[in-house]
Amino acid sequence: MVSNNQLFHLFLFLCFFQITCLHAQLCTQEQTSALLQFKQQFSFDKYASYYFCDSVEILSYPKMESWKEGSDCCSWDGVECDNNTSQVIGLDLSCSWLNGTIHPNSTIFYYFPHLQSLNLAFNHFGLSRISSEFIRFTRLTHLNLSASFFSGKVPIEVSFLSKLVSLDLSLNDLRLEEPGFELLVQNLTKVRELNLRDVNISSVVSNSLLNLTSLTLLDLSLCGLRGKFPDGIFHLPHLNELIIWDNLALTGYFPEFINSSSSLQYLVLSRTNFSGELPDSIGNLKSLKTLVASYCEFYGSIPTSLGNLTEMTSLTRLDLSFCGLSGKFPDGIFHLPHLNDLRIDFNFALTGYFPEFINSSSPFQYLDLSHTNFSGELPDSIGNLKSLKMLFAYYCKFYGSIPTSLGNLTEMTNLGIAYNNFTGMLPSSLLNLTKLVELDLSNNQLRGRLPSQIIGLPNLTSLGLGDNLIDGTIPSWVFSLPALYYFNISYNKLTGHVKEFKSTLLAIVDLSNNNLHGRFPSSTFKLVNLNSLILSSNNFSGDLDMLCHAIFLQILVLSSNSFNGSIPQCLGNFSIYLFVLDLRKNNFSGTIPDTFAKENSFETINLDSNGFEGPVPKSLENCKWLQVLDLGHNMFSDKFPYWLENLTSLQVLILRSNKFHGPIPNSKFKFPFPNLRIMDLSNNYFTGPLPRKYFKNLNAMMNVDEASFELQYLGMPGYSLYYYNDCLTIVIKGSTTEMVKVLTIFTAIDFSKNNFEGQIPQIIGKLNSIQGLNLSHNSLTGHIPASLANSTMLEWLDLSSNKLTGEIPQQLRNLKFLEVLNLSRNQLVGPIPQGNQFDTFLNGSYIDNLALCGPPLLNACNPRTPQPPPLMFQQEDNTSSGFTWEVILPGYICGLVWGLVMGYFIFSRRKPQWLVRIIEGERNKSGKRFKKHSHRNRAR
Ligand SMILES: *[C@@H]1O[C@H](CO)[C@@H](O)[C@H](O)[C@H]1NC(C)=O
Ligand SMILES: *[C@@H]1O[C@H](CO)[C@@H](O)[C@H](O)[C@H]1NC(C)=O
Ligand SMILES: *[C@@H]1O[C@H](CO)[C@@H](O)[C@H](O)[C@H]1NC(C)=O
Ligand SMILES: *[C@@H]1O[C@H](CO)[C@@H](O)[C@H](O)[C@H]1NC(C)=O
Ligand SMILES: *[C@@H]1O[C@H](CO)[C@@H](O)[C@H](O)[C@H]1NC(C)=O
Ligand SMILES: *[C@@H]1O[C@H](CO)[C@@H](O)[C@H](O)[C@H]1NC(C)=O
Repeated sequence: MVSNNQLFHLFLFLCFFQITCLHAQLCTQEQTSALLQFKQQFSFDKYASYYFCDSVEILSYPKMESWKEGSDCCSWDGVECDNNTSQVIGLDLSCSWLNGTIHPNSTIFYYFPHLQSLNLAFNHFGLSRISSEFIRFTRLTHLNLSASFFSGKVPIEVSFLSKLVSLDLSLNDLRLEEPGFELLVQNLTKVRELNLRDVNISSVVSNSLLNLTSLTLLDLSLCGLRGKFPDGIFHLPHLNELIIWDNLALTGYFPEFINSSSSLQYLVLSRTNFSGELPDSIGNLKSLKTLVASYCEFYGSIPTSLGNLTEMTSLTRLDLSFCGLSGKFPDGIFHLPHLNDLRIDFNFALTGYFPEFINSSSPFQYLDLSHTNFSGELPDSIGNLKSLKMLFAYYCKFYGSIPTSLGNLTEMTNLGIAYNNFTGMLPSSLLNLTKLVELDLSNNQLRGRLPSQIIGLPNLTSLGLGDNLIDGTIPSWVFSLPALYYFNISYNKLTGHVKEFKSTLLAIVDLSNNNLHGRFPSSTFKLVNLNSLILSSNNFSGDLDMLCHAIFLQILVLSSNSFNGSIPQCLGNFSIYLFVLDLRKNNFSGTIPDTFAKENSFETINLDSNGFEGPVPKSLENCKWLQVLDLGHNMFSDKFPYWLENLTSLQVLILRSNKFHGPIPNSKFKFPFPNLRIMDLSNNYFTGPLPRKYFKNLNAMMNVDEASFELQYLGMPGYSLYYYNDCLTIVIKGSTTEMVKVLTIFTAIDFSKNNFEGQIPQIIGKLNSIQGLNLSHNSLTGHIPASLANSTMLEWLDLSSNKLTGEIPQQLRNLKFLEVLNLSRNQLVGPIPQGNQFDTFLNGSYIDNLALCGPPLLNACNPRTPQPPPLMFQQEDNTSSGFTWEVILPGYICGLVWGLVMGYFIFSRRKPQWLVRIIEGERNKSGKRFKKHSHRNRAR
C-alpha cells in the first residue's frame, strides 16, 4: 500500500516533470528583465479597465502584479512562449488595469522580435499615440488595441505588418489619414478580422476590400466612410460579420443576387445611406442571425424570403425600423423559429396583420410595430408569446378589444399600444403582469371602469390611459403604485375624488379633462420629484398653500376648476424651474405677490378669469423669459404696466376686462415690446390717445416673413419633461375663441371698449403683418387712415362705435384677406369701396353712419360714380337682417386658410419609454393641449 505521503511526493514529482516538459528552456534573462521594465511603466488602477471590461462582463485584474523577478517569465500570467525556443510569442494584457503610456523607447519593442500576438485591449494609455516602433513586430499576426485610450494618427507602419490576421483598433480616439486605410487594406492580405470601429477614416471606401478574401469579420462602424460600398463584399466566402453602422455618407445596395453559400451571420447597416430594394435572394443568407438595417434609405417591400421557415432558421434579430419600406409584411417572419427581436417601426406604408395563430414556442422578446399601417385585431393566441418582454404598437390601426390573454405574458415589462382604435374594457388581467414597468394604452376608445382590485404592480413607472372613454372613479390602487413616475389619464370621463399619491418618484401627473372633483390633495406638492401637474378642466377645489414645497415643479396647469384662495407669497422665488403657471378660470383671489426674483424661468403666467385684484406686480419685470402674460377677466386695478415694455420675450399681453385706467404713457424705451404679437387691452378704462410709439415699433407685427413660417406654436419649449400648449381666450373676428395652440405668426391688437380718443395715427400702417385690429367702442375721431391698406395680412378690422368721419379709403380694397369688416356706428360718408373682399360684406358692416352709399347698402351713390361690378355672391336676404358677427359669412379666400391653420396640429410625442427614442406623429384631433416632449432637461 502506498501511503498518503508517498502519493503526495509522486504528485509533486509529476508536477515538476510537467513543468520542465512544457518549458524545456526557461525564458531568457533578457526577456524577463525587459518585461519587468515594461511593467515599471504602469500603475495599476481598477478604473483603467473599468468601463469596458465591466460592461462586457470580462473579469479584469492586474495580471502584471504577479510578474516577479526570479521566476520564469514563460509562466507569468498573460505571457505565452514558444515551446521549443522559449521566445515570448504572445502577450495578453487585456483588462489588466494598465495605466500609463507606451513610449517609443519602451523595452517591449526591442526584445520580442518573435511576438505573434499582442493584446493590450481595455486599458488606459492616457490618450497617447500608437508608436511607429510597432513595425518591429514583424511576425505579428494578432494585434488588439481596442478601447485602450490611444489617440492621434494610426502610424503608417501598422500597414507594414503584413502577416496580420487580426487587427482591432476599435473604440479609441484614432484616425487613419489618407492613404492609411488604402495601404492597410492593400497590404494586410491575410487579415481575417478587421475591426476599425470608431477610427476616423473619413475617406472614400476602398474597393481593395474585395481583395481581403479571408475576411470573417469586418467592422467599419462610425468611421465616416463615404462613397459606394463595394457590394462584392457580400460575396466574400468566409465573411461572418459585416458591421458598418453609422456611416451617414456611405451609399450601397444589396447585390441583386446573394449566393446561398454565404456564411454571413451578422449584418448591421443601420444609419448608412444604403438604399434600393431588399432582394429576394436575401433568403439565401441561411446563416443570418442578426440583420439590422434601420435608418437606411431602403424602399419597396420586405421580401417574403425573409420569412421563409426553411431558410431563415437562424435569424434571431431583425431590425428594419425607420426604413421607408412598404407593401405587405410577410407573415412568415412571425413564425421564424428563433426570431426574438423584431423591429419594423416607422415604416409608415407597411401593412400587415398580427398572425391569427402564434405558436406557443415562439421566442419573441421584443416586438415593435409602431408607426406602421398594421391593422386588424390582436389574436387571442398572442398569449402564447410567453417570452415577450416588450410590445410596442403605437400609432397603428389595430382595433377590437385588447385580448385578455395578454395577461398571460408574465415576462412583459413594456406594453405600449397607444394611438390605435382598441375598444372594450381594459382587461384586468393586464394588471396582473407584475413585471410591468410601462403600460401605455392612451388614445384608444377603451371604455368602462378600471379594474378595482389588482395584485400589485411594484415596478410600474409609467401609466398612460389618456384619451379614452374610461368612466367611474380612479381606483385606489393607482394612488398606491409605489414606483409611479408618469401618470396620464387625461381626456376620459372619470368622476370622483383623487387620493394622496404614495409614490415619491411621481414626476408627471395629467388628470385633465375629466369630471373629477373634491379637494385635490395638496400633499402632492410635497412630492420631491414633482415636475408637471396638469389638472385642467375638472371640478377640483382646494388652494395652493403647499405650492412652495414643489421646488422642481416646471409646469402647473389648474385651469377650469374651482380652486380658490390666493397665490402664496413664495410664488416668484421658491422655484427656479416653474415656467408654466396656468390658473385660468378658477376662483382664485387676492393680490399677486410682488416677489418675482431675478432668476426665474416663467414663460407663461395665465391668470385669466379669476377674482384677482390690486396692482400688477412691478417685479414681473424680472421675468425675462416671459412669453405670455394673461391677466384678463379679473379685477386688477392699475395704470398701464409700462415696465413690461422691456421684456424682450413677451409675445402675448392680455389685460382684457379689468379695471386698468389712465393714459398709456409715452414709452421710455427705444423698442418697447420688441416681440409682442398679441396685445389685448380691451374693456378697461384706458384714456388718452392711442400709443403711437407702439404702432411704430412693435417689430413682431411688421414684415413677418410668411415664407419662412414653419408651423410653430407658443409654448413649445422642448426642454421640459412634459409639453404645454398655451391656451388663450382671444376675440377673433368678433367672436370669443379659445385658441388651443397659438401660432407664432398670429398677430392682433384689441384696444376696444376703452375711452381712447384722438385720431388713428397713420403710422399704424407700419404694422403690416397684423391679422386683427379692433379699436371699436372708443371715442376715436378723424379719418380712417389709408395707410391701413399696407396691413395686407388683415383678416378682421373693427373700427365700429367711434366718431370717425370722412370716407372709407378706397385703398382698403387691397386687403385681400379681409374677412370681417365692421365700420358701423361712425360718421362716415361717401361710396363704399367695391370689388375684392368688399363684395362679401353685408349691410351690418356699415349701418349707422352718416352717409355711406353703394352696395351692399340700398342707397345708390351719386350717378357719376361708376357702377360697381356685379356681386360675386348673392347673399340670401334674410341673413342680412340685424347685425351680428356670426351672420357675416367668411370671405371667399380666407375662411379656408384660417380654418386650415387653425386645424393643423403637429404633434411629436415621445413614447414614455423614457430616454429611449423619439416618436413623431401627426394628429389633428382638436382640444389636445399637452404632450410629452423631448427628454432634454431645461438647461439655460
Ligand atoms: C492614471 O494615473 C494617473 C496618475 O498617474 C491618475 O491621475 C489617473 O486618474 C489614472 N487614470 C485612470 C483611468 O485610472
Ligand atoms: C505548447 O505546448 C502546449 C502543451 O503541449 C500546447 O497546448 C501549446 O499549444 C503549445 N504551444 C505552441 C505555441 O506550440
Ligand atoms: C523614454 O522616453 C520617455 C519620453 O520620451 C522618457 O521620459 C524616458 O525617460 C525614456 N526612458 C528611457 C529608459 O530612456
Ligand atoms: C506591404 O508589406 C511589405 C512587406 O510585406 C512591405 O515591404 C511594403 O512596404 C508594404 N506596403 C505598404 C503599402 O504598406
Ligand atoms: C487585388 O489584388 C490584385 C493582385 O494581388 C491587384 O492586381 C488588384 O489591383 C487588387 N484589387 C484591388 C481592387 O485593389
Ligand atoms: C423557402 O425556400 C425554399 C428554398 O430554400 C423554397 O423551395 C420554398 O419554396 C420557400 N418557401 C417559401 C414559402 O417561400
